[in-house]
Amino acid sequence: MKYRFADRMFSVPESFIGELFRVSNLPGIISFAGGLPDASLIDLDGIARAAREVLEEEGRAALQYSTTDGHLPLREFIAARYRRRLGIQVDPDEIQIVNGSQQCLDLTAKIFLNPGDVVGMERPGYLGAIEAFSLYQPEICTVPLIEGGPDPAAFASLIRERAPKFFYGIPNSQNPSGATYSDERRREIAEILDGSGTVFYEDDAFGDLFFDGRPRPPVKRYLPDGTMLSGSFSKIVAPGMRIGWICAPEPVLRQFNVAKGAADLHSNLLCQMILHRYLSTADLDAHVRRVAGIYGERCRLMCDLIDDIFPPGVGRTSPEGGMFMMLFLPDGVGSMAVFREGVRQGVAVLPDAPFHADGGGGNAVRLNFSNADTTSIREGMERLARVVRSLL
Ligand SMILES: Cc1ncc(COP(=O)(O)O)c(C=O)c1O
Repeated sequence: MKYRFADRMFSVPESFIGELFRVSNLPGIISFAGGLPDASLIDLDGIARAAREVLEEEGRAALQYSTTDGHLPLREFIAARYRRRLGIQVDPDEIQIVNGSQQCLDLTAKIFLNPGDVVGMERPGYLGAIEAFSLYQPEICTVPLIEGGPDPAAFASLIRERAPKFFYGIPNSQNPSGATYSDERRREIAEILDGSGTVFYEDDAFGDLFFDGRPRPPVKRYLPDGTMLSGSFSKIVAPGMRIGWICAPEPVLRQFNVAKGAADLHSNLLCQMILHRYLSTADLDAHVRRVAGIYGERCRLMCDLIDDIFPPGVGRTSPEGGMFMMLFLPDGVGSMAVFREGVRQGVAVLPDAPFHADGGGGNAVRLNFSNADTTSIREGMERLARVVRSLL
């Protein structure tokens, strides 16, 4: 049978990530290639208790069909938390629950993009976004991340000259670089976008995970009508629940709601109710402080090891939170060579080329520090330092 797939299926960049993950998980390999939160930090007892209570007390309602916008008490929780933590006035009706914030990427592209439309994003940028947007056949134009956020001059000329439908950015502890926008750059970006007709898609997957516990102001604060802000419980409660949300201006949310309903009617109500019950009883802020504290220790250890035991010419980012950092390789050392030799010597990293939506990369690797304990980080980084030295 010759299957006649849609053209859009061939517009997704060929990804070798699946292959990388397979290799990274071979026995004996210490992997910094993945992107998982540490499962040992999930509050299993608390979630199990909430699940039992929901099933015993509201089981039939929880197992029934529900509304597309999502469980109202959960949306109220999210809106109240925005007001308290970030000082932004958000109404529960401005929030739509989705199946993990990854679904926001798909639905946003679906409601905004015709083939050939221009989309802006950071370079390097989140691979999951590149894949989700590519299915809608846009032209992806990138702006380099420099100190403090996207290069403002390049950002301004992209907005002015190419008028992207939206610009996708991750201001807090970006994936893959770990970079955080400065407060000043957030304001600057909002000023450039104001009145331009380009929406800012602010992906806040990691905003809770600052090691110092201090929330940073969202771009949405400076550009309330021009920003869609996505969030997720994946990194702070449990990714397997697949619960995230989008907070967007009413006209955007109306279209988003149509696309969401057509895609899957609504997100898993049982999980939404269990999550809400859990959040009503657990101390989420204390839990998040603990998780961020542990990730912070792991990140600092990784940074210290890069500074102490790696050869000259190696550089790195300095994450203030999140789960990832970038290691820059000395001139002449390619990231694919480091990947291949790393696997031979028992350490896996992710080469940076796939994070470049419009080409480039090749001399940096992404390191994940959330899912390895300090012993594995010490051993893995020693192996990686040996690998880099052997390729000089
Ligand atoms: C920047 C970013 N956005 C979105 C996601 C999707 O996460 P989820 O769908 O679990 O909310 C991820 C996952 O790692 C991510 O790194």
